Amino acid sequence: MNLFRNATDSGKESPDNATIDQISHFDQKTVTLRGWVSSIRSSGKIAFLQLRDGTGIIQCVGSIQDIGEEKFEKLKSSTLETAVLVSGEVKKDTRSKIGFEIGLKDFEIVSRPLEEYPIGKKEHGVAFLMEQRHLWLRSSRQVAILRIRSEIIRAIRDYFDGRGFYLMDSPILTPNSCEGTSTLFETPYFDDKAYLTQSGQLYGEASAMALGKIYVFGPTFRAEKSKTRRHLTEFWMVEPEVAFMDINGDMDLAEDFIEYIVQRTIKNRRAELEILERDLTPLERVKKPFPRILYSEAVDILNKNNKPAKFGDDFGGDEETVISQQFDRPVMIHHYPKAIKAFYMKENDKDPTLVNCVDVIAPEGYGEIIGGSQREDDMEKIKARIKEHGLSEDAFKWYLDLRRFGSVPHAGFGLGLERTVAWITGVPHVRETIPFPRLMEKIFP
Ligand code: 4AD
Ligand code: MG
Repeated sequence: MNLFRNATDSGKESPDNATIDQISHFDQKTVTLRGWVSSIRSSGKIAFLQLRDGTGIIQCVGSIQDIGEEKFEKLKSSTLETAVLVSGEVKKDTRSKIGFEIGLKDFEIVSRPLEEYPIGKKEHGVAFLMEQRHLWLRSSRQVAILRIRSEIIRAIRDYFDGRGFYLMDSPILTPNSCEGTSTLFETPYFDDKAYLTQSGQLYGEASAMALGKIYVFGPTFRAEKSKTRRHLTEFWMVEPEVAFMDINGDMDLAEDFIEYIVQRTIKNRRAELEILERDLTPLERVKKPFPRILYSEAVDILNKNNKPAKFGDDFGGDEETVISQQFDRPVMIHHYPKAIKAFYMKENDKDPTLVNCVDVIAPEGYGEIIGGSQREDDMEKIKARIKEHGLSEDAFKWYLDLRRFGSVPHAGFGLGLERTVAWITGVPHVRETIPFPRLMEKIFP
């Protein structure tokens, strides 16, 4: 058995490099697997090892006869998270969830845990598990969530890459705010100071004027003093930006994009969604067209459902839940009052108290997953908005150049990755949707 794997193949080409997810390619062949002990059970002369390799879990059955006394003793005495190397014959087994098990022919210990593994089979509280996040990641539930996250990221990239968008990376260290000054993380920057980006949008706009259709995809930061199940201080956002597009085109794009991500994840990650016991019915309904309602209609819905609201109110999580409960798929709320939205949103032609913007609210209480808008492309109006928001015109000099030189209608949106993963996986809190969550009171491990 070779300890080292060849990582250049897909795990189904060679039996010496097999992975559990590809095991069906090796029926009746002898494979080598590398992984960790997920559980072990033995009765006299036979032992049952559940082996975890990151791609799945498979039962390996070993006996003294097949591996000899010395190795059998090692097998029997191995404990949770012992690192092991196994070799054996792949056998069809109808009782197995994956349809196969391994008849062990060889067994080696790579390393034994130095101490008892802290996460046992008993129930642990979330606070404890969060402290052990680096180990908690190994549980099958966390692995399923992270595989789905990876699939969603791939779907996002494929969607835009396949439609003529260019990926543009925007800076993390920025000289000014994008989404209001109250949630900025400040950091020393030599003799000056800088801020961690809240959104790549402004740089996305500049890039769209250079390349037409672009998307920014990266980490963003908000010094959000909110301890809710929807807020992280560091989260990933994907932000398409398109030159020559208005708010209607923006809504068409958001709707098509969400349908694609959800349907593709259901198709490619069904096994993981099953591990999470996700009800697929509401996800299967996520098809175009999505309902589109005016902000003022959303206010009416709240008033009719015992959630008193008036024009000019911003919606929190509770309001979003009430609104989303009226629909069976994501709902797009558009044309909010200018007074409660960001400085860059385009004033509506017919009613200057409104802006051409859209928030997409996910079903099942997952809240706002997309915030987007057409951007103000009129030089005088955008200058006035910068002033109203108490921002320095100097800091936005470069941004104003986009209006100075060949200004065109343009629009885009930002989709929060972790809220989207929470919704699709059905996980109640965003802390489980990113490998190492950063929360107001949590920056360890
Ligand atoms: O609505 P937001 O603040 O919009 C923007 O940042 C725009 N500049 C995007 C654009 O038009 N290019 O944020 C967009 C999305 C939200 O809908 C939400 O999904 C997510 O980002 N988000 C958060 N996710 C987790 N934790 C937080 N603290 C979040 N704040 C926003
Ligand atoms: Mg928003």
